[in-house]
Amino acid sequence: MTKETLLIGQTLAFEADPFQQGIDAARYDSRGGILIRDGLIAATGTADDLRRKHPMAEVTDYGDGFILPGFIDAHAHYPQTAMIASWGKRLIDWLNGYTFPEEMKFSDPKYAFEIARTYFDLTLANGTTTATSFTTIHPESVDAYFTEAQSRGLRAIAGKTCMDRNAPERLTDTAQSAYDDSKALLEKWHGQDRLIYAITPRFSPTSTREQLNALGALWAEHPDCPMQTHLSEQTEEIAWVRDLFPEARDYLDTYEAAGLVGPGALFGHAIHLTDRERARLKETGASLIHCPTSNTFIGSGLFDMDGLMRESQTIGLATDTGGGSSFSMLRTMAAAYEIAQLRGRALHPAELLWLATSGSARALRLETKIGTLAPGFEADLVILDLASTPAIAQRATRAQSIWEAVFPTIMMGDDRAIQDVRISGKPVRV
Ligand code: GUN
Ligand code: FE
Repeated sequence: MTKETLLIGQTLAFEADPFQQGIDAARYDSRGGILIRDGLIAATGTADDLRRKHPMAEVTDYGDGFILPGFIDAHAHYPQTAMIASWGKRLIDWLNGYTFPEEMKFSDPKYAFEIARTYFDLTLANGTTTATSFTTIHPESVDAYFTEAQSRGLRAIAGKTCMDRNAPERLTDTAQSAYDDSKALLEKWHGQDRLIYAITPRFSPTSTREQLNALGALWAEHPDCPMQTHLSEQTEEIAWVRDLFPEARDYLDTYEAAGLVGPGALFGHAIHLTDRERARLKETGASLIHCPTSNTFIGSGLFDMDGLMRESQTIGLATDTGGGSSFSMLRTMAAAYEIAQLRGRALHPAELLWLATSGSARALRLETKIGTLAPGFEADLVILDLASTPAIAQRATRAQSIWEAVFPTIMMGDDRAIQDVRISGKPVRV
């Protein structure tokens, strides 16, 4: 008989989007259960009920542990792991001064593997079970990421970062080699186990029209792959795009003209948008990826979560390490809360947790596979300790509701709050 595992703790399952449905979208069980079979969630319900129906299941009781879908980071740069928290620059100088020198090191596969290992150690320790990453122009950097993710059984997304101008010579490819290398890597990795290849032009300033067109052609050949890039992060960047693409109506148009806007397009940042850009993002079904710790760290601006959600845009949440200043999706939720507050909207804990799980899954078009505690979903889980430090514990004990109990961990929690992580139902050491 197939082995079954029953996890018991506090459980929270989203049956709908809380931005649309309010907090009734969440189902909370103070003593809930998650039954796992063959790496998938087989059933959810109350612990007592599942114990009765599945007496042979091996039980792990997390007590007051808070069982959630594993966090889903919808935009990160694993090659920036070693230069996270680099001081004092805005985007363009930060790229030239810190990022590009570090990314050059990835021509050495040994270094790429070392950083990929460190990256997944850190993300898993923070409860992130799916990371969506940029790499460098080196195919070896993609191999390192996927090899490491595959050996850990992870669902993971990445693609070769393409640049054919405005970067050091050792970090540039060409329109043709970007197409050829991306295609070869896509054929090698996409659909292997739980891995997904993302076509990845870094951003319009570092790609010629020819390169954007070539990657648009590749995407048209593989529309089931995501396409990830950056959009309207800083005002200086937008002015630069205007100079480089005088014919374009706006920043988004530089991608649109190349066939790089549509369902499965993931636009990191998307802060300073025109009305036309907002309308086109919505019409085409593209996704916007909010990177709040990065936006404050690099000084980029305040994402309009409330206005964009009211327009029913598709939005995911992300760390953007190492422009982002943390590997933790808890810290990322806290920063999203703070940015929304600065724009006059208090995000509810249900909205924050949804963004970090189901919301990111939907933005990645993975909403039928990960990000929700429901039968048929992959059993990637994080178990949170809602009293992980004295400061959090003394606040949480005074809570009158689960939302009040979890909010201190969202605002003040870090990797100490990660009690356990499971990948396809199996515990990983954190
Ligand atoms: N825009 C283009 N490349 C990058 C990057 O590496 N990080 C951030 N934050 N923005 C970018
Ligand atoms: Fe980024």
